[in-house]
Amino acid sequence: MQVITTVNELVEKSAAARAAGKRVGLVPTMGALHEGHLSLIRRAREENDAVFVSVFVNPVQFNNQDDLVKYPRTLDRDVELIGDLADFVFAPSVEEVFPTPPTEEYHFGPVEEVMEGAARPGHFNGVGVIVGRLFKWVDPDKAYFGEKDYQQIAVIRELKRQLGVRAEIVCCPIVREPNGLAMSSRNRRLSPHEFETAAQIHRILEDSKLLPDVPEIKRFVESEIARVPEFKLDYFEVADDQTLQTVHSITDAPGIMGFITVYVGEVRLIDNIRYR
Ligand code: PAJ
Repeated sequence: MQVITTVNELVEKSAAARAAGKRVGLVPTMGALHEGHLSLIRRAREENDAVFVSVFVNPVQFNNQDDLVKYPRTLDRDVELIGDLADFVFAPSVEEVFPTPPTEEYHFGPVEEVMEGAARPGHFNGVGVIVGRLFKWVDPDKAYFGEKDYQQIAVIRELKRQLGVRAEIVCCPIVREPNGLAMSSRNRRLSPHEFETAAQIHRILEDSKLLPDVPEIKRFVESEIARVPEFKLDYFEVADDQTLQTVHSITDAPGIMGFITVYVGEVRLIDNIRYR
């Protein structure tokens, strides 16, 4: 594995791989890697001949400056963890990616107007800016994304349509801690007590699967979250798994999921669950 830091090298290495007839896989990340990221990278390793992992804390997708400053940065350890699972780790500086402020402006439509899109203005445009550039530079056969950020995948699919990207978007299941908490780089900012408490989020969502319909599910999840003093609910929505629009009954769509965002102390965590 080789660490590269310039866009020129990235473009060259991926063009060379494609010219050699290799199947090229791309795994975009912001680093502080954990088993969730590694599951994507392992899958990319299995399905491709040349694997590119990007490690870049993308400033333009942060709508909260404090979150950007506190975002964990552990490049040496990330490189060690990736080892031979990737051929290239692209770890550029902010100036390398954005020599001038980006001007791309995406409109992803209804999928970006709800939940994370509504709660974090500009966030998905920032994701589109960086992922759009990575698609252009690497031109992968397959690109790997995790279902923890389920709405992000819907946005990336729309980005793919708009840019005419040929890459297949591969979705990977959520990897959890033994206590059920969805793995996240932000979990490192939780105290040991908060880490254990945060496991309630998944437990509450699992229990909510036993309820008959959306009103009961919403009441249950909202009241259970409210019972935990460390939690502050940002939103809980039950929505169509394709359009991401709110549904009012489990019978409203063929695929229905619950999407939650909770502050645990200062740390904002997201998770989701499938009802149908
Ligand atoms: P980041 O949060 O580092 O996540 C990188 C990829 O890993 C995303 O596709 C995310 O969904 C996936 N992932 C994170 N935690 C996971 C878990 N517990 N189980 C399975 N997959 C998980 O998402 C981003 O970075 C950025 O928005 C990015 C796409 C890199 C653009 O900057």
